[in-house]
Amino acid sequence: MRRTLIAGNWKMNGSLSSIETLINGIKNGLAEVTNADMAVCPPAIYIPKVNELIGDANIGLGSQNICDQEAGAFTGELAPSMLKEFNCRYAIIGHSERRSLYSESDELVAKRFAMAVKHGITPLFCIGETLQERESGVMEDVVSRQLDAVIDSQGIDAIGQCVIAYEPVWAIGTGVTASPEQAQAVHAFIRNKLAALSEDVAAKVQILYGGSMNAANAAELLSQTDIDGGLIGGAALKADDFLAIGKSA
Ligand code: PGA
Repeated sequence: MRRTLIAGNWKMNGSLSSIETLINGIKNGLAEVTNADMAVCPPAIYIPKVNELIGDANIGLGSQNICDQEAGAFTGELAPSMLKEFNCRYAIIGHSERRSLYSESDELVAKRFAMAVKHGITPLFCIGETLQERESGVMEDVVSRQLDAVIDSQGIDAIGQCVIAYEPVWAIGTGVTASPEQAQAVHAFIRNKLAALSEDVAAKVQILYGGSMNAANAAELLSQTDIDGGLIGGAALKADDFLAIGKSA
């Protein structure tokens, strides 16, 4: 049985005071979240502070990036060993904002993925199509290509060590959510594709949905057979909203 994971992607939001309010708020309501694991991915500069604020509460910590190299002359990047020092369990990799605004290729995404796995950090591996790709009927090709970038270079077993986040680009930050049926159809497509290579990996890998998930629509999305949680942007910035999503699992 796959656990549900609700992960917050704070993106480039927050301040020293707001993150304290947010983490304390999540900690206060955490006991009521009984059917999901909760995790937060703050901006890198706040990772040490959030790690401290979390203390021994059962909240997973993740980064929004990870370098594809161990250390050295890579200005602006985050070494996996540094993330480990601050207890990062997850790293978001391949988010559509990184792919589109910072030109991250499938190849670079796969290299970041490999480095995370090597260091025991679980990739939150984001894939998803644009509206134009969906409307022109190439959605499955796009999602397959993004998955294959990792499978071809690292093998199917590497997928068993990540959490996949299916995030249709047209649903991110737009308030337009994929319907539960639309999301379930793509999640099933992903799982079937993986099952053709390994039944075991397909059965165990968590596939999260991301894209305007909130307290009002989470329960229906999370009740779909192949949806194992959510990667939450906007609704992860308020403790009550974020906890409500966790409680609806
Ligand atoms: P959103 O973002 O929930 O604000 O749509 C999701 C994401 O980008 O991970």
